[in-house]
This record gives sequence, structure tokens and C-alpha cells, in this order.
Amino acid sequence: MSRVSKVDLHVHLEGTITPAMVVRLAARNKIVVPDDLMKDGHFNWRADGAAAGNLMAFLRAYDHATSVMKCAADYTDITYDYLKRSADEGCIYAEITISADHGAMAGLAYPEMLAAIAAGYEKAREETGIEARLISTCVRHFGPEGALKVGKLTRDHPHPLVTAFGMAGDENAYTAADFKPAFDISGLPHRTAHAGEAAGPASIRAARDVLKVRRFGHMVRASEDTTLMEELKAINAVPEVCVSSNIALRVYKDYAAHPLRRSFDYGLKVTLGSDDPTFFSTSIGREYRIAQEQFGFSDKELRQISRNAVEEAFVDEKARARLLAAV
Ligand code: ADE
Ligand code: ZN
Repeated sequence: MSRVSKVDLHVHLEGTITPAMVVRLAARNKIVVPDDLMKDGHFNWRADGAAAGNLMAFLRAYDHATSVMKCAADYTDITYDYLKRSADEGCIYAEITISADHGAMAGLAYPEMLAAIAAGYEKAREETGIEARLISTCVRHFGPEGALKVGKLTRDHPHPLVTAFGMAGDENAYTAADFKPAFDISGLPHRTAHAGEAAGPASIRAARDVLKVRRFGHMVRASEDTTLMEELKAINAVPEVCVSSNIALRVYKDYAAHPLRRSFDYGLKVTLGSDDPTFFSTSIGREYRIAQEQFGFSDKELRQISRNAVEEAFVDEKARARLLAAV
């Protein structure tokens, strides 16, 4: 394991639940999950087909797995579990995507969900020193009305750990403009949106121009358009690159086809993320290892990736200085 300090800028809280935790919570909460949700100790969601089809097959399994979460203690346990595992791999900072929609499915009001996540974070921080912030995120395929509700909840219940608004879900659903009101109403200074994962350059342009995003979930498919690459470099755009996710969801067929190395060498401000680590059998430590072993990144280059992430993290300047010193 490289000794470089790691930073995870792209990770969905629900995507960190382990199969073992699903079994434990299903028993604790008396929930029956579909028989085929897990196989041999792993989540079993893979479907054949195009990237967009894979994303939706995955998101269905993700919602089934999340359906075992039913109370505040579940959120606390999952948050603590993920942060402790990450800290043990040398992760010093994580920016966790949280979803009021999934909290509501678990029966928790948004402020209750926040308090539960914060409790898990405080415990992990006390034990390990890891820092985290939260990105309140709407889910694109739940529609613009749902997104607006999440934007309003975010505005009405400010929390010191929630520093940004984001959008995940099916990138091919609706248009970016449909979600502009949700971003605007959230009242948060920072934003990110999934773009350039299940859809191509047009989706990245829409997120940039309409949602005013400069940090993007994935953005890897910008590499299909040289003009867009130039434009993104000119604005110092930040891709949150999740290699294992991209391979698992068949955005790219293998490491050789993946644009991580090319994007970094081109001068984009590349960062790394684990996305939904337990669904893609990965972790932030493994993503750094893949960058080193499959893409030839030296420790110095990995440190640059961590520095990029801290420079673009949604934190105040005091925290940024502390984290930069740690990198
Ligand atoms: N939600 C959780 N993981 C996601 C991904 N990789 N893309 C879009 N939405 C998501
Ligand atoms: Zn994601």
C-alpha cells in the first residue's frame, strides 16, 4: 500500500454498505432482500449491455441494498464503518454524498439523517483523525420535483458538515436545466454533478453551462471531445475519477481504454474517488493502488492527485491548510 495520504472526493454513503452489514441490518430490521441481491459475499447486480443500462441495473441493486437501512443507528454504523476502513488505508479526508431521498425511504427526516451521519463521523474522527464533509445530493431519475424538495430541505436545515449540493442518478434522465432550481435554492456555495459517466460531452457542457459546475462526478467522457478538453482545462475543471466504477459499469472495457492517465498528463486537475466501493469491490486505497500499478503513477504523482483533491475540497480555508499540510 502506497504511503501517500489519500483523499476520497467521490463516494456515496449508501454505496459503502458492506454485504455483511446488509445481512446484519436485514436481520436487525426484519427486512427481506431479494434472493439474488448477493452472491458469494458480493453484491450481484451486473447486467450485460451499454453503460447506461448497467448504471440502472446497478442503481436498482443499490436501492434494494439500501432498503435494509431503517433507523438512525443504521446511518451511524454505516458512516463509522466506511470512515474507519478508509482511515485504516491512509485516507485523511472524504467528501461523502448523502441523499435525503434515501433517508426518507429509511423513515428518517433529513435532520435526523444528518445527526446520525454526524455521530458516525465524530466517532471515526476521534478514533482515527479522518476528516469528512457531506454533499447533499438529489437523484436525477427521481425527477425535478423531488430534486427541488431536496434543495429546499438542504436550505432549511443547514449543517456545518454539509458544504455542497450535488446531483447523482441516471444522467440520461431529464435535462440539466430541469435541476437548476434545486441547485439554486439549496443556498450552498459549492456544487458538483455527475456528468460524463453514462452520457457524453453534451452532458458535461450542460452541467457546466446551466448548473455552473466546475467540479464534476466522473467527467471522464470529456476525453471524447478535444475542444471540450481544452475548455475544461482552461477553467481548471476538476474530474472526480472513479476507475473501478467506470470498469464495473462498462463505461470503459478495461484499464487500457480508461482516460485517467491521458487526462492527468493533459493537465486536468484529476482527483480520485471510490464511488460505491462495496458494490465495485474496491476502496479508496485500492483506487490509488490501481492508479499506481495499472496507470504507472509514481508516489509523487499520487501526492499531486491528493493535493488537487484538497485544493478543490468543499472545506473552509483553515481545514484546507490543515489537510494540505498532511498531504
Ligand atoms: N449513485 C450512486 N452511484 C452512482 C453512479 N456511479 N452514477 C450515478 N449515480 C450514482
Ligand atoms: Zn457517483
